[in-house]
Amino acid sequence: MTSLITMDDLTNEEIISILDIAEQMLPIARGEAYTPILSGKVLANLFFEPSTRTRMSFEAAMKRLGGSVLNLGDVSTSSVVKGETLFDTMQMMDGYADIAVIRHPRQGAAKYSSDAVEIPVINAGDGAGHHPTQTLLDLFTIRKCHGTLEGLQVALVGDLRYGRTVHSLSGALARFGSSLTFISPSSLSMPREIVQDLRNSGVDIVETEDFLGSIESLDVIYMTRIQKERFPDEEEYRKVAGVFCLTAKDLVNAKKNMIIMHPLPRVNEIAPDVDSTPHAKYFEQAFYGVVARMALLCRLLEVDVQEAIE
Ligand code: NCD
Repeated sequence: MTSLITMDDLTNEEIISILDIAEQMLPIARGEAYTPILSGKVLANLFFEPSTRTRMSFEAAMKRLGGSVLNLGDVSTSSVVKGETLFDTMQMMDGYADIAVIRHPRQGAAKYSSDAVEIPVINAGDGAGHHPTQTLLDLFTIRKCHGTLEGLQVALVGDLRYGRTVHSLSGALARFGSSLTFISPSSLSMPREIVQDLRNSGVDIVETEDFLGSIESLDVIYMTRIQKERFPDEEEYRKVAGVFCLTAKDLVNAKKNMIIMHPLPRVNEIAPDVDSTPHAKYFEQAFYGVVARMALLCRLLEVDVQEAIE
């Protein structure tokens, strides 16, 4: 793997190896140890769409490992406003950085960017396409909480049409043998080609609009935000805004060890009274973004973590 554009760029063995390395990174991410194994390396953070967690956790990952970060910053202060093409902006990156992270509103933009450069490119979200690094931290969280990725009952809830996190996560979970329930309004159902691909590979999928009708059987509930910015018009968004909201009282029949995840930001999909239940894992999940990204950066920059740490 030289770039990470979709989860198909990783084998199951590579995913497990990244999660194992991420586990070793926990003390470094918490600031309890300092191991500058990426010293001298430079990462370019190219965010053409808003981001808090993804951008900052890449920066934290790089800096805690001794590397440094260049930020494109606010797109309105870059040459993009002068009409520079993405291809030309990317061409510069080979000369400025050792690795680039890109988020862009256009589906396919990360792949397009990786074709423009020699350095590894990481897709941090391409429109309604994919978000593979979110999947790595999601898998890390699930394995941390359940001790395994195999054979879990997972519900993906909300905007499955435009939500890139669930596009990447569904395929990855299926590869580890999870059963998937897709819960969404019919207008926001999982794209047909994703459902078809999953079914063709023998995955057990239920699609429903019934929010949490079968909560007692679930190991993971993965909530998502309705992706307002991807709707062609505001009126369509208003029809589905706020359609699902999980509250603490919905959880009475849940398994004790059922976990609730969310890539964040949440708008109103999870009521604040859920935060203090033992099921709530979304803030812990966001922290795991640092270790998952540390492990990925080491892999793409070809740093042998075992050797470097010993
Ligand atoms: C997600 C995204 O950008 O797709 N955010 C994130 O990276 N944690 C989810 C979202 O914006 O709803």
